[in-house]
Amino acid sequence: MITVSAPGKLMLFGEHAVVYDRPCLATAVDQRMFVSIDKLEEKTLELEALDVEVIGYKKPLEDLGKGDIPKGARFIEAVLKRLIAKHPIKGGLRVETRSEFSSTYGFGSSSASTVCLVKAFSEVFGTGFSKKQIFDFAYGAVLDVQGKGSGYDVAAATYGGTIYFMTGGETIEPIEVDGLPLVVGYSGVKVDTVQLIDEVAERAKNYPEVVARIYDGIAGVVELAKERLMSHDWTSLGELMNINEGYLSSLGVEGTKLATMIYAAREAGAYGAKLSGAGIGDCMIALVPKDKKQDVAEAIEGAGGEVVDLSVHVEGVRVEK
Ligand code: PMV
Repeated sequence: MITVSAPGKLMLFGEHAVVYDRPCLATAVDQRMFVSIDKLEEKTLELEALDVEVIGYKKPLEDLGKGDIPKGARFIEAVLKRLIAKHPIKGGLRVETRSEFSSTYGFGSSSASTVCLVKAFSEVFGTGFSKKQIFDFAYGAVLDVQGKGSGYDVAAATYGGTIYFMTGGETIEPIEVDGLPLVVGYSGVKVDTVQLIDEVAERAKNYPEVVARIYDGIAGVVELAKERLMSHDWTSLGELMNINEGYLSSLGVEGTKLATMIYAAREAGAYGAKLSGAGIGDCMIALVPKDKKQDVAEAIEGAGGEVVDLSVHVEGVRVEK
């Protein structure tokens, strides 16, 4: 048996535009997903994923991807199907997943577990996948299940650290960052990322030139933010967060609850604040001077948010034992 873990992620800059051939910046967070796998004689998949209520799930390998699949098993089935199509195995596989974080926060638990399975498969069957191969298998599976998405969450889980990422993994560049001072607030509102991508696409259909310019504007913010991040210019990075938030607001994904938390964080002394991810719900992030951390955290709570204590820029997928 082998256990592998991968981190969750936070989007720093560039959400939505990154779905359409623009770059983004993302960081890996210390809320990890764990996947253990073991070989089986029988040609079946056995899956235990208690966190997503999949218990005693069993399926012949030849039926992977077919029939009615419980939500919590979709990514594992999709990626295993891809793996054995390229690298046939003799018997079957027992898979157990465990999460350090609730899937409600939107830290990317599905993508992280998909990445873990590819890495664990590589270890157990000696396929020696590179990071890019792990990314490609896992991203393919994510597209099989949800049909769209940039793949930035898959890249963050695979590479860890902080990355400059281009749609589909065309560029995945590690960025050296030292102690990014973030406060993260969870809105308590659950969002469906695919639905929000669709809503933005609908808006883009009505105003294609306008929305294309917004995406180009966001791409410009990402390029500058990359420089400021590397030079640790937090004042400017905070301002760029506010500008990025303005663009997201114009795409219609800000949402009242997140906006209230974001403005409260700014008023309490943050360098800047923005939503992180698809918008409307999930999380916001604030970049804060050290001496304002407590004030900003209290302001976010005062606005009805929950402050999530986490570290960023952590290690990507790794073997645990
Ligand atoms: O909510 P999340 O973390 O799945 O992120 C959404 C970010 C989008 O750019 C809207 C989608 C994507 O796949 O990049």
